[in-house]
Amino acid sequence: MKMEYLYTFLQSLGYDHPVHPAFAHMPTGLVVGAFIFLIAALFFKRLQILTTSYHCIILALIFLFPTAFFGYTDWHHFYRGEWSFPIKVKITLTSTLLIFLATAIIMEVKKIGGLMSRSVIYFLCVVAVVGLGYFGGDLVFPDTSPALSNELQAGENSMRLTVPVVIPMAEIPSIRRSPSWVLLNSRIQTLSQDSAETHYGRTALRASCSLSLKIS
Ligand code: HEM
Repeated sequence: MKMEYLYTFLQSLGYDHPVHPAFAHMPTGLVVGAFIFLIAALFFKRLQILTTSYHCIILALIFLFPTAFFGYTDWHHFYRGEWSFPIKVKITLTSTLLIFLATAIIMEVKKIGGLMSRSVIYFLCVVAVVGLGYFGGDLVFPDTSPALSNELQAGENSMRLTVPVVIPMAEIPSIRRSPSWVLLNSRIQTLSQDSAETHYGRTALRASCSLSLKIS
């Protein structure tokens, strides 16, 4: 399911960003919140806080579904469904998180296990969301961008080659004043503006700029 009509609709409203990051913080924050409330309940010996913690877990499970759904649709729309390593890990971790959250809820409803097993399962949920965030960041800020189309990969490669050479050159006043530099600079500006118009382009630009910073 590619949901292209959703992205067309959002674009008509002027929203051309991925949808998934807007949701990703919900299960993440709720799982971390649940764990912190659990620790607080144990530390301050206020066991009624455990109810707050459990309610966060229920909300995290509810928000997992739209988050994973928009992760999937963004992956198809912005990453062309490229079967990359971070995506494989993210799908595995999302399924694992789903199992952990469901287990935590079943344990509470059926009164299975004590505080120790509850702490372990909540901690495992935290580990899963940290992993999801880490590999999400890996997609957004990659060292390389294998998911780019051939055309954009060519653009990225030329940026990779050009930017590291050109940026240090701009420091030399005589070069900065030369007509060919002015022309080259305006070409780079145009290329940057073109790239900045698409999400892939921005990813390519970010990858090239971080590479140029590493090199220079
Ligand atoms: C509860 C589950 C998930 C959580 C908490 C989560 C979390 C995140 C986070 C924190 C980011 C980084 C956002 C940013 O820096 O802008 C991200 C990016 C991403 N995730 Fe997930 N993710 C989840 C599930 C999934 C699934 C199931 C998929 C795909 C099948 C997926 C696909 C993506 C994609 C494509 C991006 C890059 C979005 C962009 O370009 O801005 N995620 N995720």
